[in-house]
Amino acid sequence: MNLPGDFEVVFSEERIRARTRELGAGITRDLLADDPAAELVAVGILKGSLLFMADLVREIRVPLYCDFLRVASYEGMESTGVVRLEFDLTQPIAGKHVLIVEDIIDTGLTMRFLLENLRLKKPRSLKVCSLLDKPANRKAPVEVDYVGFTIPNRFVIGYGLDLEGLYRNLPYIAAKRV
Ligand code: IMP
Repeated sequence: MNLPGDFEVVFSEERIRARTRELGAGITRDLLADDPAAELVAVGILKGSLLFMADLVREIRVPLYCDFLRVASYEGMESTGVVRLEFDLTQPIAGKHVLIVEDIIDTGLTMRFLLENLRLKKPRSLKVCSLLDKPANRKAPVEVDYVGFTIPNRFVIGYGLDLEGLYRNLPYIAAKRV
């Protein structure tokens, strides 16, 4: 499959794999330091986190449940930060260690909504792991506990990230040329 001509590879499969391994090790270490009997609920945000979630959970070495959320933001109303839940968790998270797994944090509006929503369910701990972080475009300040790569304000595709629904299946990440 060809990459559109105005995109260039910025993170290879190998780099993503190596960084995911480090993130998994850090998440495992922090959890066990906090609670040696920890179990984790990893919550993948669909659809973008699909590939990252699958790879990250294999690098986390504690008993782990997988769940998923899907959110939609209303286009053209981004500045108001209207985000809605398209479907919800399948299990209670009260008293559980929860890790939100996201592909990218851009304005932060989606993550702010997710954190507010999940906090209401009273998890024991609630942390965020995002493969990519684009802090230049932040509208809502959010604390991201684990970040794969911090990137400049460029549009990226691949490894779960899409351009109008396509390119999620690229095994690497590519950015639009500037
Ligand atoms: P936020 O609410 O602006 O932080 O947006 C987060 C969501 O926007 C992500 O989960 C992605 O689905 C999407 N998004 C933001 N930047 C990009 C990008 O560069 N490529 C593809 N999707 C993106």
